[in-house]
Amino acid sequence: MGVATGSVPVVNVPQPEGRSERAAPERDLAVRTAHLTKRFRSGQVAVDGIDLEVPRGAVFGFLGPNGSGKTTTIRMLLGLVRPTEGRAWLLDGPMPDAGPTVLPRVGVLVEGPAFQPYLSGRRNLARLDANDATADPRTSGRRIDEALERVGMAAAAAKPFRQYSLGMKQRLGLAAALLRPRELLVLDEPTNGLDPQGTREVRVLIRELADAGTTVLVSSHLLSEIEQVCSHLGIMSRGRLLVQGERHVVMGVATPHVHVTTTTDHAPRAAEVLRRLGVGGVTREGALVHGVLDGVGPAAVSSGLVGAGVDLLGLEVRRQSLEELFVRLTGEGFDVAR
Ligand SMILES: Nc1ncnc2c1ncn2[C@@H]1O[C@H](COP(=O)(O)OP(=O)(O)OP(=O)(O)O)[C@@H](O)[C@H]1O
Ligand SMILES: [Mg+2]
Repeated sequence: MGVATGSVPVVNVPQPEGRSERAAPERDLAVRTAHLTKRFRSGQVAVDGIDLEVPRGAVFGFLGPNGSGKTTTIRMLLGLVRPTEGRAWLLDGPMPDAGPTVLPRVGVLVEGPAFQPYLSGRRNLARLDANDATADPRTSGRRIDEALERVGMAAAAAKPFRQYSLGMKQRLGLAAALLRPRELLVLDEPTNGLDPQGTREVRVLIRELADAGTTVLVSSHLLSEIEQVCSHLGIMSRGRLLVQGERHVVMGVATPHVHVTTTTDHAPRAAEVLRRLGVGGVTREGALVHGVLDGVGPAAVSSGLVGAGVDLLGLEVRRQSLEELFVRLTGEGFDVAR
């Protein structure tokens, strides 16, 4: 099947040496999907045949603009939405059938968690914990305190949920996911509604959990927010998974750019040297010359410029940001909506 999606190129990220992604043993993957597809009754294809692979131990940043299909994918993974086509496995269990055995090992933060507005944060957690047949009621109090502490909600724990700010609600959702140690955490936009300090705290928390051996699948529509904490990235656009793999490999798809600073007089000559060296897309703006280093090393650029007598005042090599990579992959801005 498959609706043609026109110009969206799929980038095949080279695999780490000696191991083909396809051949990865299933036990190494905490999350796996095969041609996972969701077509809503409206005809909308929200998720279009994705083959997601989240290795165990990874912090997998599931990135994409609003409406790209992240939440729908996560809902299918958790058995909350039935796929139109394709399959999904969580911790080796086929979903939704394996839900009862697998889901107790998974901590989840999805949109609109079932909190009672008139109960305090602490009472809400106690209620969720009591509903969890696999949780030991004798250790409930201690685990709730620890979870509240971890997300910085100890002080606000006695306040009714309805009085919480968006960020506080989000933190309580995180606390609910952390009530017990989990093998896998699935966090849908955990930084939504948090201020920069709160976002930093979530990053630190994810890092700590990952260091303790938990696999984390974390989604965000803000590329830069969680990128730094991720070992792996997957980028969604219009229901399709454009690219996935280890972060440095995915980022390696982004070609480095060179920015040369010279004098306004020398800029035309500098641009000519860059073109001659095989630098792509050379542009000039006053004393600045800019181009794409496609296989040309920065050393060759600097010696070429100096050799041609260009007054070299500065040379900087910059990798594209994820946003720029996204724009290159899709030909669109990151804030695409449908
Ligand atoms: N229940 C539904 N019925 C019809 N269409 C839906 C439904 N849920 C989602 N969609 C559509 O599916 C597409 C993907 O939505 P989804 O919520 O998965 O995106 P997202 O990547 O999580 O976006 P955001 O960053 O805004 O959370 C959107 O176009 C959305 O309008
Ligand atoms: Mg979403």
